[in-house]
Amino acid sequence: MHTVEPIRWTPEGVVILDQRRLPREVVYHTYTDYREVAKAIRDMVIRGAPAIGVAAAMGVAIGLERSQAQSLEELRTEFTLICETLARTRPTAVDLFWAIERFRRRFMELSQAAENNGAGGLAPIKAALVEEAKHFLRERQDADRSLGRLGAKLLPQRGRVMTQCNAGALATAGIGTALGVIRMAVEAGHQIEVLVPETRPYLQGARLTAWELHQDQIPLTLITDNMVGHFLKTGDVGAVVVGADRIASNGDTANKIGTYGIAVLAREHQIPFYVAAPISTLDLSIASGEEIPIEERAEEEVTHLAGLPISPEVRAAHPAFDVTPARFITAIITERGVARPPYETSLRELAAHS
Ligand code: MRU
Repeated sequence: MHTVEPIRWTPEGVVILDQRRLPREVVYHTYTDYREVAKAIRDMVIRGAPAIGVAAAMGVAIGLERSQAQSLEELRTEFTLICETLARTRPTAVDLFWAIERFRRRFMELSQAAENNGAGGLAPIKAALVEEAKHFLRERQDADRSLGRLGAKLLPQRGRVMTQCNAGALATAGIGTALGVIRMAVEAGHQIEVLVPETRPYLQGARLTAWELHQDQIPLTLITDNMVGHFLKTGDVGAVVVGADRIASNGDTANKIGTYGIAVLAREHQIPFYVAAPISTLDLSIASGEEIPIEERAEEEVTHLAGLPISPEVRAAHPAFDVTPARFITAIITERGVARPPYETSLRELAAHS
């Protein structure tokens, strides 16, 4: 299975595929400054919760590798600034903060060890964090495959499956979460057609999911968002599988705006609704979805399409995510196992089990 690579580490810098230009153009940019990586995350050059985590990891690594700091003290100050800059990009996807926290712990460990040994050189610390970033990417890819394998068993042998937004290779840097489940099912012989809502306003479904599935020759039908109810009622859909940006302890799940409506409609029509997400998307520090910060994006993303106005100059709203209450979620598929209600216990068990 060969999937697109949205991000990779190279000796020249962090290479990121510009997802804003898909599907028309395949353009890569090389970033050598962590501030540019932060801007790329904010501007959605790269997006999708796990891929944002990888971008943050590589942003920290490039920031340190290219740092001009002359002492450990200076490097520590710069490290804090790098982490703060990357953390101020997108508030909902918890993978971002998870990745930064992991790198903060590793940096503390390495800098403490260097101080204790009296070894003054900064090069080994920088090299270790670059290795950590590459390792982080490989871990993400392994997690997708394990998750995909577990989730594939839940999909129908034949028929239609609906997704939302893009939870594919572009969104994780592996085979994807929701699309990873679908890819593994297809690889295992399931005959599946994917219903892809276009996902206004940013069109991740139309531009990215349709592109990925088409490249892999997985059958799909693109629909507009207002067709979701109709197809869940009449379209022989056997399951819905979506990704997640943050999952609270009780299973409430933030994902791309529109997901909540799909979940409610799936329940109405007795269609199983699955969330596929890595353990890094769990936020067990919060009790419920009410505590999840929802990113509010620019009004122009609603009033304009491809740079052209599609409405008069009026106020518009763009909450980028909504929260699906846990009661609508049939199961949460992670790389460590499939969690079922009650999620308060099943998610904690999976998180504790490494
Ligand atoms: O705004 P985006 O494109 O970053 O939103 C992406 C989603 O909502 C995805 O479904 C989610 O991040 C899971 S990606 C595996």
